[in-house]
Amino acid sequence: MYPMSLASERYGNTLTRKAWVYSSPGEPQNVLRLVNGFPGFRIEQLKPGDVIVDIEAVSINPVDYKLMRTYQLVHKAMQKPPVIPGFDFAGKVVSTGPSVTGLKAGDRVWGKQSLSLQKNRGGTLTNQICSNVKCLHIIPDSINFNDAAAFGTAGVTAWEGLVEHMKIKPGQKVVIVGASGGVGTFAIQIAKALGAEVTSISSTKNIQLCKSLGAFHTIDYKSEDVVAKLAETGPYDFVFDLINDNGLYRASSKFMKREGSFFGIASDISLSYIGSVMSRKMRPKIFGGSSNAYHDFLEQATPEAIKNFSNFVAKNKVETVIDSVYNFDHALDAFERVASHRSQGNVIVTVN
Ligand SMILES: NC(=O)c1ccc[n+]([C@@H]2O[C@H](COP(=O)([O-])OP(=O)(O)OC[C@H]3O[C@@H](n4cnc5c(N)ncnc54)[C@H](OP(=O)(O)O)[C@@H]3O)[C@@H](O)[C@H]2O)c1
Repeated sequence: MYPMSLASERYGNTLTRKAWVYSSPGEPQNVLRLVNGFPGFRIEQLKPGDVIVDIEAVSINPVDYKLMRTYQLVHKAMQKPPVIPGFDFAGKVVSTGPSVTGLKAGDRVWGKQSLSLQKNRGGTLTNQICSNVKCLHIIPDSINFNDAAAFGTAGVTAWEGLVEHMKIKPGQKVVIVGASGGVGTFAIQIAKALGAEVTSISSTKNIQLCKSLGAFHTIDYKSEDVVAKLAETGPYDFVFDLINDNGLYRASSKFMKREGSFFGIASDISLSYIGSVMSRKMRPKIFGGSSNAYHDFLEQATPEAIKNFSNFVAKNKVETVIDSVYNFDHALDAFERVASHRSQGNVIVTVN
């Protein structure tokens, strides 16, 4: 199935890689399979900037199964099967290509494979990847691989939302909807460290977690009237909506400042999601829209954002909240947990 010339090349002690792969759209349980014998990388083929990393831990995010479900047409043209899922990783540098400075074999690094790297060299749910020096950052000694693995998507998305898009200032009030998930648990801590007053929206069982991370007000969406509670505790400057709560957006004038805005990221490739974003952006107030601006963004994970986030984490002791850790052979259970949409923080797969 794989080019024998590649599969049989010896790289270090690794003849080939093990990897979870899929070739057709569907649920992880139906389409994802474990392959031993996936082609590895050769030192002599490394290009400027390339870095080979032995993976220790991978964070599984909603985007990983969303892309798998919709692996058709455009996506298939961009990424030929078999596809290795996963963007986030933490591990150890094995070897560096030409013109790489600042990294050496043995360094502990975390990162996020860019879309183009994922397309050309595969994702991170494997024991070894070829990444690029621009995507890598040294893990501080005090942080372990599992915690660092979650920085790439959940951590950096929270950072970009609060710092680059909202440009949060001390004293501002921000609501985080979906505060107990992977992105939300980072967002509470970052917003608090930036000096904002944070209100979390979560279910009853996660109230204590949100409080412990720094939420000033906690609202239980299962048992409380969320809009009434927000009206009491507001008015707010921002809502960071990780759930795509249309009802909340339509009621925003009851609890937000006039100039306050909503930032959404719960992206999906479905028509219903795109329709809901369009309606938030375009529906006039007299037809049930809101006068507060709505912005939807995609994480960019630029080297600058990654560097700033990394420095901020080290300085402000932002911690990764981990819901669960699965062994590599049980990656399907990790996908099931993420797809349940009930995880408290991040879901990690350990590789070695
Ligand atoms: N645009 C981008 O670049 C980007 C980047 C990262 C993530 N995302 C998207 O952002 C969303 C959040 O990501 P994530 O990794 O944080 O998700 P996640 O970890 O799967 O979120 C799970 C959490 O959501 C909570 N939740 C579920 N329904 C809720 C509701 N109605 N109100 C409040 N909380 C609720 C759950 O708590 P309970 O069980 O207590 O309800 C659980 O703790 C996903 O849709 C993801 O695809 C987009």
